[in-house]
Amino acid sequence: MVVDVYMSLCKGKLTGDRYELLRQGSETYIPEDESLDFVFTSPPYFGWEAYGDEPEQSSIKFDTSEVWKEKFLKKTIENAYRGLKKGKFLALNVANTKQYKTFEEDTVKLAIESGFTHTDTWWLSLSTQQGKVQQGSLEGVTEVKQKQRYMGEYVRPNVPGRKFEPTFIFQK
Ligand SMILES: C[S@@+](CC[C@H](N)C(=O)[O-])C[C@H]1O[C@@H](n2cnc3c(N)ncnc32)[C@H](O)[C@@H]1O
Repeated sequence: MVVDVYMSLCKGKLTGDRYELLRQGSETYIPEDESLDFVFTSPPYFGWEAYGDEPEQSSIKFDTSEVWKEKFLKKTIENAYRGLKKGKFLALNVANTKQYKTFEEDTVKLAIESGFTHTDTWWLSLSTQQGKVQQGSLEGVTEVKQKQRYMGEYVRPNVPGRKFEPTFIFQK
């Protein structure tokens, strides 16, 4: 089995007991046609978190969400499509952010335009703490459960106090 993972700035290729790391963005790594059994990526959420100041960091290379979508997200999905064998899967963990409000919707649209079928959505449950906010009153500060404020197309499971992110599953 051959597994390819776009991870951090590296591409890991596991063949038997060998592992290869490349310092390269997933938007520039062109895999061999129909050579991969599975692709999973939790890509950067545009500029939501800063991971480093290397020039390969996608949000340093592409500084608006529109350019980032075309040059990073779309290319990464197209590269995954090219590399996957027919019938195999791409899993993409993404989430809308204040800086990029349609990241989820654009991801699904780009994957379908690249030739994938959207077969499933898995919900990743984040830490329970993330669903709480502090509220001040005369009695002091208390923690209250935060209301779900999600506005996009992919509606979260309704579990009070918990936040969810989708992992979209696509089949070639
Ligand atoms: C949401 S984190 C996920 C990290 C890791 N997969 C994990 O789950 O812990 C996004 C990662 O994408 C990396 N990254 C930044 N620019 C990239 C690029 N052009 N291509 C591939 N990965 C990139 C960041 O350095 C960061 O490690």
